[in-house]
Amino acid sequence: MSPFLVTRTLPEDATDAALRADVLHGLTRTPKTLPPKWFYDAHGSELFEKITELPEYYPTRAEREILVARAAEIAGATGARTLIELGSGSSDKTRHLLDALSGLHTYVPVDVSESALTQAGQALIAERPSLDVHALIADFTGGLALPGTPGPRLVAFLGGTIGNLLPAERAAFLTSVRSLLSPGDALLLGTDLVKDESVLVDAYDDAAGVTAAFNKNVLTVVNRELGADFDPDEFTHVALWDTEREWIEMRLRARSALTVKIPALDLAVDFTEGEELRTEVSAKFREEGVRTELAAAGLELTHWWTDPQGRFALSLSMAR
Ligand code: SAH
Ligand code: AVI
Repeated sequence: MSPFLVTRTLPEDATDAALRADVLHGLTRTPKTLPPKWFYDAHGSELFEKITELPEYYPTRAEREILVARAAEIAGATGARTLIELGSGSSDKTRHLLDALSGLHTYVPVDVSESALTQAGQALIAERPSLDVHALIADFTGGLALPGTPGPRLVAFLGGTIGNLLPAERAAFLTSVRSLLSPGDALLLGTDLVKDESVLVDAYDDAAGVTAAFNKNVLTVVNRELGADFDPDEFTHVALWDTEREWIEMRLRARSALTVKIPALDLAVDFTEGEELRTEVSAKFREEGVRTELAAAGLELTHWWTDPQGRFALSLSMAR
């Protein structure tokens, strides 16, 4: 069987220190915020997989349609021997790429969720005995130390996860991705597209309440890791569309005035009744915006594909 290697570039205490810093910074400012990467403990990763199956949550199905239709073209255009996937999660849609990339030598899934990476990696090596899988537990917004594997390299960033970065973070992120690539290497980027507000809001506020549970999971993570006493039932899930910035915001709204104690930070955080904590932005894109952001990072957009309903786009761009 092929090797399955897991490398942790995030020491346990670095994760702990990063969470402390994010919670301290985010809960002592106005408005309060927490970064979305903390949703994804094992339970959060499971909830995300449930989200992808909801009738209201179209991005996963739309992106899969594009991958099925275009995987052969992507393989032809890139000739990738190494596929690096950022925020790979279950690596489920990736299988369409793995099937099409006939010369592929190594797959490098990168994620902060150790449980998602391990499950996905073990399933993949059982299915594809000739593929090397080198999983990296790492934050894709930090400097990534990639294994020395054969080129050409294809970096895939699927699901629209780039939309969970704020605009300045996106610019820094794309520049750091470009620095991983040599001329002729490529980036395959999934971006959700601007559309009717009601479709967008429903995708982030589903009838079954799975997205609400995913949103509140961040409070459970802070409780477990930092000994906090958030009561998730004291907060309501909010999803709203910001027309100007063209992003969905997920928030948690305090039902009443309350104080949360966070012993690991020696901190007490007051919420007024109705006060909202922003837990995620999910930006939606237009072709020209994506092209411009890629170009600013030194990447030339060469292909733009959408699903037949025009809901989601996959773009391929090349490092020059
Ligand atoms: N690519 C998959 C999963 C998307 S969910 C899909 O398209 O369905 C987002 C994934 O990114 C999760 O698995 C989460 O753990 C991971 N993630 C979020 N922020 C991250 C970060 N800063 N560094 C690395 N992984 C991150
Ligand atoms: C991972 N990311 C692209 C998802 C999104 O749609 O922004 C996370 C998510 N948040 C709520 N539902 C799904």
